[in-house]
This record gives sequence, C-alpha cells and structure tokens, in this order.
Amino acid sequence: MQKKWWHGKVAYQIYPKSFKDTTGSGIGDLNGITEKLDYLKSLGVDIIWISPCYVSPLADEGYDIADYYKIDPRFGTNGDMWRLIAEAKRRDMYILMDLVVNHCSDEHEWFKKALADPYGKYAGYFFFEKAVDGHAPNNWRSYFGGSAWEKVPGTDLYYLHLFHKKQPDLNWENRELREEIYKMMNWWLDRGIAGFRLDAIMNIKKALPFEKYNYTPDRDDGMCRASRMIQDAKGLGDILAEMRDRTFKPHNAFSVGEIFNNTNEQIPEFIGDNGYFSSMFDFRETILGASDKGWYDFEPVTPDEYRDACFTTQRVVDDQGMVSTIIENHDEPRGVSRYIPEGDLTDRSKKFLAVMQFMQKGLPFIYQGQEIGMENVVFHSIDEVDDISTIDEYKVAKEAGLSDEAALKLVNTYSRDNARTPMQWDDSENAGFTTGTPWLHVNPNYRREGAKTPVSADDPEIRPVNVAAENRDPDSVLNWYRKLTNLRKNSDYSDTVVYGEFVPFMEDQSNFMAFYRKGEKQTLLVLGNYRNEKREVKLPGKVRRVVLNNCEDFSMKDGVLTMDGYQAVVLDMG
Ligand code: GLC
Repeated sequence: MQKKWWHGKVAYQIYPKSFKDTTGSGIGDLNGITEKLDYLKSLGVDIIWISPCYVSPLADEGYDIADYYKIDPRFGTNGDMWRLIAEAKRRDMYILMDLVVNHCSDEHEWFKKALADPYGKYAGYFFFEKAVDGHAPNNWRSYFGGSAWEKVPGTDLYYLHLFHKKQPDLNWENRELREEIYKMMNWWLDRGIAGFRLDAIMNIKKALPFEKYNYTPDRDDGMCRASRMIQDAKGLGDILAEMRDRTFKPHNAFSVGEIFNNTNEQIPEFIGDNGYFSSMFDFRETILGASDKGWYDFEPVTPDEYRDACFTTQRVVDDQGMVSTIIENHDEPRGVSRYIPEGDLTDRSKKFLAVMQFMQKGLPFIYQGQEIGMENVVFHSIDEVDDISTIDEYKVAKEAGLSDEAALKLVNTYSRDNARTPMQWDDSENAGFTTGTPWLHVNPNYRREGAKTPVSADDPEIRPVNVAAENRDPDSVLNWYRKLTNLRKNSDYSDTVVYGEFVPFMEDQSNFMAFYRKGEKQTLLVLGNYRNEKREVKLPGKVRRVVLNNCEDFSMKDGVLTMDGYQAVVLDMG
C-alpha cells in the first residue's frame, strides 16, 4: 500500500442539523460548526465530514437534495460555507461534503422538468419506465418500505426511487447527467473542500432491463429488497473509474465510500493504490444480527460476533488499502448502546470500545457525540420519532403482529434517531445545543439527574454526558478519546498504530478482543476484556511499557495479567 497524506489522520462526522444551533431555530447550522472547530481540533480531529447541508425539503434529512450548489437557508449561506472552509484550512483541517448522487429530491428542478415533460430531456436523467401489464416494472422494495416504483402522474409511466418516493433515482446511464454531476463535484472541489463521502454509491448502477430482474419475494408483500439488484448490476466499476478520473484525481481529493454489498474481490478495485476511492467504511459490525424481514427479526450482537466481524475485515483488507472504521454514524443507533451488552454499559466499557476502534488498522471516524459517550435515548411514543426509515420499521413490526410496546422497544434499540439527538455541549437548557426548541429532543443524560451510566462496575458514581463537564474531568470518556487520537498522531507509536500489521491474539477465547499491531519500531499488544468479569491473561513476553490502560490497576504477576471487566490496555512489547 502506498502511503497517503490522510493515513495517520483522525476523522469526525458532523450531522449538521443536530450539532450546534447559533440562531435559536432549533436546527444546527454551519456557523455552529465553525464555532466548534477549536473544540474539534482539541480532540485531535483533522478531517470533518459534514452530512448534507444543501437545499433540501429534508424528507430524508438532507439526503434529498434540491440544489447541489446551494446551502439550505436553515443551515446558513454559501458565504458561511466559504468561511467554514477557510477557518478549517487555517487550522490544518479538511472538510468533506456528502455526495448524494444516487438520487436527488423530487423538488430538484431536473425532476420538476421531467414531470412537466415525461418524454423529454430531463426524464432521461431519471428512470421513467413504462408500466408492464399495468404494473410497476418489477418487484423491488424501496429501502424505506413499499414499492421502489411510483406512478408518474397522468401517464402510464413509473419512476424509480430505491429510497423514499421523494428521492427519485438519477440515471447514471445518461451521459449528460454524469457530466452535470462531475461539473458539480469539481465546482465544490475548486472551492477548497478536501473531498467527499459518497452516499449509497453501490446503487448508482442498476440491473437492467428492469423487468428482467423480478426477484423471488423475501417478505409476504411479494417484493424483494432493492439491494438484491446490486449483484446483477454490471459495469459499476466503469462509472466509478470515470468519476475518479474526472474529479478526485485531478484534485488529489480524498473520497470515502458508503460501500455495502461488495465482494472481497472488489476491495482492491475500490481502495487499492489506484482504487476508485481513497477509503471505504467498514460496516461489517453494523449489519450483525440483521434480517431481511425487518427489525422485529433482528438478533442482539454478542461480543464474539463483534470481534469476529472486525477481525474479518482486518484480514480481508490486509494491506490492500485503508478502510475507515466506525462504531456508529447517523444511520445507526449509538455504538455503546448496541455493542456493549445490556447492563454492562459504563464509562469504562465505553472506553474499551473506543480502544478497539482506534487500535484496529484504519482511518477512525468519530461520529459526533461518540467522543463523550452519547447513548441511545428513550422514545416514549412513535410520534417523537422523525426518521422515515424508523417509521417504516415500526409499521413493519406492527404488521408482523408486535404490540405497540414491543414495536417501540425496537425503535428504542435500532432507530437512527438515537444518533440524531442534539449534541450535548453543557448542562444548560437543551444541553447548550440551542436557545430555541430543538427539532428532536435532547437526551436527558446531559445532566446528572437524567444520567444513569456509572463510571465502572466498582464505582457507582454517575457523571453527566456533556462536553463541558467532560473537559474538566481528566478521567472522562472525552479525555480518553483525546489520548487515543494523540497516540495515533503524536507519539512514538504513530507509525505502528497507523501501519502496523494486524495479528489476532488468543482468538479462541470468548468475550475477549485482543490483537497485535506489529510495526517497524515496536510491537503493540492490545487486550480487551469484553465482559464484566475478571480474566487472567498469560502474556506472550515482557512488557516494555503500559501505553494505555482504562483502569487504575495493572496487576501482573509471573507474566500473568489479571484484567478487570472491560479493562482495555495497549502494551508496548518491544
Ligand atoms: C445513505 C445515508 C442515509 C440516507 C440514504 C439515502 O445510506 O447515509 O442517511 O437515508 O443513504 O440517501
């Protein structure tokens, strides 16, 4: 693998609607991001991916773009964006925009023109298809539920929307459309952004002709999930190579793909030295326990499954490229609530999970609030939820016979809105996120009265989850993240943390996540006791230095380390 400027960096995802509101509107804005750049810098962040902030009806919270060239007035102005880019540059930080080009909004002028003239030029930017025997062209189910086909009013045509019906799919077979997109990407890159995160990019190439790909239904509704078609779509690589050559390459831009449903063989094509993208997210953990039927059929994730998923990616990718690691993002519940077994959630187990992410090989992305240990929230009714995908899953669960209560429990466990509650800055009203009414309610754990997570199994003290309090507390989750970013970037161990070979350790042990990182200068051994009980670990050699330890004790005798529950250590083995 060739070395690249971004390999040793730390990245951070901002969900602008929930980050920091400077106007009192209840919605976060770009000036709020600019205001917090110093905070992000103090956390050791270099690269910032901002979820969509373009003009949008926000049907899917900005992942439905109505104007690719303009910031939505709710988030600010283009001028605010230029200022944000400049202020980031001044701090040696890099801004990534979210590139949502599988679809746009039905309120984009292209789509409006297409509707006005369903056989004209702009209809060719979308998939306007003739009905087959009076029905939609095939039985694909949209990712957000229901058919992926919607009638074009006043015609016998349907248009395709793999996501919500307000997100019509763009037709990447159409050269003019492709040119429009490359022009827009270059326009942004020329304005000083460092690159893009590529949304839903595996979907841009469709299995054609549509009517040939009617699949065996995977639910009682007679439909099949849209992602099934990805296996049959031919020629995605040609488009992605064209995109790379026309946009990223000439700008030496960074790009990270939202890649699902890929094969192992595709990894070098995607992120090898001449890959389509710089990096791609590792989502293997996020799909653990999932079922095609919906949330009601999901299984909880066990520690061994979590470890095996992470290790599989590490092995499969190896030295072919650099993945991007996450424990959560805006499409997932909070990682600490999901991957730490119920009852085991403490500040210590949160730190454990952070070590596991940061010490694997890959570019770590912190999702806003992860660094302070933000947790899932409790929704008391489905009416408190905003997210379209959650509303669909709730409906599916009810149709499968679940009670309101049981369906709501699923929402509390899996909803994307868990990650979208406002960022918790301090213990003032609404966690300092807004002076107005927040668009989604704040998790009450930003204040001590609303918090419930103890420091550790032996220390029942409960501390509030917010930036200000955690800044003051040397043992906070936030300051733990600072140690991790520092280890990655500014220490004798940087090279090993970034490039060291990943080698599993004692993989046959249950509830244990341990591995080496073997670098040129030294070997690090990372040990994580993924359970709430002590365990003894026979060390494979002498310890030169304890580099990190999330517990006060380090009890070693005759080469045997006794680890507390959720203890995580990084050891320099020489
Ligand atoms: C991606 C985004 C998600 C969005 C979807 C449609 O998966 O991360 O938030 O709903 O694409 O754009």
